[in-house]
Amino acid sequence: MAGDVVRYDEVTSTNDLARDHARRGAPELSVVCARYQAAGRGRQGRSWLAPAGTSLLVSIILRPPPTLARSAWLTLAGGVAVAEAVRGTCDLPARLKWPNDVRLNGFKVAGVLTDSFRHEGTAHAVVGIGLNVTQTAEQLAPDLPEASSLNAVAAGAGSWQPDELLQPVRERFGELYQELLRADFVAVRRRWETLDETVGRAVSVTTGESTWRGRATRVDDYGALWIEDEAGELRQVIAGDVTIRLEP
Ligand code: BTN
Repeated sequence: MAGDVVRYDEVTSTNDLARDHARRGAPELSVVCARYQAAGRGRQGRSWLAPAGTSLLVSIILRPPPTLARSAWLTLAGGVAVAEAVRGTCDLPARLKWPNDVRLNGFKVAGVLTDSFRHEGTAHAVVGIGLNVTQTAEQLAPDLPEASSLNAVAAGAGSWQPDELLQPVRERFGELYQELLRADFVAVRRRWETLDETVGRAVSVTTGESTWRGRATRVDDYGALWIEDEAGELRQVIAGDVTIRLEP
C-alpha cells in the first residue's frame, strides 16, 4: 500500500504532525499514528481524549483535487473505511451517522476530523481518525454517555488492540480515495448508504447557535446532508451536529 507509516509515542495531535509531514513532502497516503495525544482535536473545536494505547489515532496525508478537498467526501470516506474495517476485522455491526461518527449499537466508537490547507499552491488534506478500541467503562468520559469502545461494546465476545485495525482502515480508505479521485461518487455513496443510519430518520440539527428538527432525506454530491424541516422546507446541512431522535 502506498505511503509511509510514521509512529509516535506521544504527540499533540496526529493531524498537526501529519500537516508538518505533508509540508515536508511526505508521500500521499502516508499515515501518522500515535499511542497518545496531549491535544487531540474533535469536530467543532472540541477536544478528543483517550488514555495512552487505548485507541487507533491515525492521520492520513492527501493531496486531493481542490473540489474534493472542499467537499465532505473525505470525511465520509474515513467513516466508511473505519466501519468496514471494524465489520471485517471484529465482525461487529458498525454503522455511520452523518457526517463523521462510527457507531455500534447506538454508541459512538470513532470520529473523523478532516483538515484542509494549501501548501506551496497545492491543496492538501489530512483525514484524522480516532477509534476507541480497548477503553473500559471506567476509562470512557462520564460526560459523554453515548461514547464507547470496540471491546466495551463486544463485552467479552471479542477483544482487539488498536494496531490490528490500522492496516484494514488504511486499505479501505485507499480504495475509497481512488474511487473519489476517479470522481466515482456513486460507488462511495453506495458504500456509505449501506452503513448509514441517518437518512430517513427524525433528527435534531445544531448549526451555529440554532437547533431545529426535521427528517434527513439524502446526501448530495458534495457529501452534504439534506433535511426536510418541520415546515416542510428542504435545507442543506454542510457542517453541523446531527442527533438522531427516537420516534414514538
Ligand atoms: C469527532 O469530533 O468526532 C472527530 C474526532 C477525530 C479524532 C481524531 S484522533 C486522530 C486525529 N487527531 C486529532 O487531533 N483528531 C483526529
